[in-house]
Amino acid sequence: MAAPRAVAGVESGAGETQLILTDSGSEEGKRPQFGTRFLTDPRQVFQHNAWDNVEWTEEQENAAKKKVLENSQPLPPEKQDEFDAKANEFWNEFYTIHENRFFKDRHWLFTEFPELVEALTLNECNTHFPGENASYRILEVGCGVGNTVFPILKTNNDPGLFVYCCDFSSTAVELVKTNPEYDPGRCFAFVQDLSDVEADYPIPDGSLDVLVLIFVLSALHPNKMQASISRLARLLKPGGMMLLRDYGRYDMAQLRFKKGRCLSENFYVRGDGTRVYFFTQDELHELFTSAGLEKVQNLVDRRLQVNRGKQLTMYRVWIQCKYRKSLQQTTETPS
Ligand SMILES: C[S@@+](CC[C@H](N)C(=O)[O-])C[C@H]1O[C@@H](n2cnc3c(N)ncnc32)[C@H](O)[C@@H]1O
Repeated sequence: MAAPRAVAGVESGAGETQLILTDSGSEEGKRPQFGTRFLTDPRQVFQHNAWDNVEWTEEQENAAKKKVLENSQPLPPEKQDEFDAKANEFWNEFYTIHENRFFKDRHWLFTEFPELVEALTLNECNTHFPGENASYRILEVGCGVGNTVFPILKTNNDPGLFVYCCDFSSTAVELVKTNPEYDPGRCFAFVQDLSDVEADYPIPDGSLDVLVLIFVLSALHPNKMQASISRLARLLKPGGMMLLRDYGRYDMAQLRFKKGRCLSENFYVRGDGTRVYFFTQDELHELFTSAGLEKVQNLVDRRLQVNRGKQLTMYRVWIQCKYRKSLQQTTETPS
């Protein structure tokens, strides 16, 4: 399949954060199903708003690499430490400003991750904790204001379902708890920094059927990713599944970063202090398998979004992963 020759374009005036975060929410929210519309004739590019599974030309890949290199001079260590130490404060500020108006509900969730509505058949554990009597437990980490959690609660009517969600922004968690759709009988929201691997979770190890990470792992410092994933893996039941969707290498958002925003290779800080990493499939595979999980799916979703009015093409790259904890495993995984 030939990709159109146009180089990634952008809408003028869109701020960095606006572009990156909006696209991780609203643009994706419109996508009916993964892999349904293919561009076979480049002349048709402006006939639709988006195309699935676009292939990149070598020339395009090289241009992206060059662009990334141009802005790969990292900020000084003291600046990096500051962004790391105050990471949750920047997100608190973000949610104080945007409240629950920024991200749109993730309507593609159930097409991509049917595990969120169809129960896997797994073992039970018996200790006392919120949702202890549930037969199907899902935890979303980095839940923001609930754009994943509330659609799950609405769509999955299994009476045995209990959904946990956490974020290190107390402002975001408060917005989840004060949402009229928050039902403490079916849901439990709490503040948790997933990179703090020593901290206890309000649920025991080996208690979760599904763990969801939607555009959150990319917000962590790359040095903290492995330990965080390994810690989370302990929470899964044997046979439980970790589901992730996040930014891929050379996504348009990465190519848009200007000089002075790079923290380390493929890791950047936005104008509002929030940070973002752009993954390859191999890096994610390594993170999950080193946490003792087995691959079920690891795909790259290259999508061409089109602004027909302005005749612009925008190349988005997202990675989607499903990794399972082996049925043979105990709750202990290597850290
Ligand atoms: C791009 S938003 C995605 C929100 C949500 N998953 C969604 O799909 O709408 C990233 C979220 O991750 C949270 N986050 C970033 N680093 C975190 C950490 N170390 N621990 C917990 N949450 C974190 C942020 O506060 C923010 O709510």
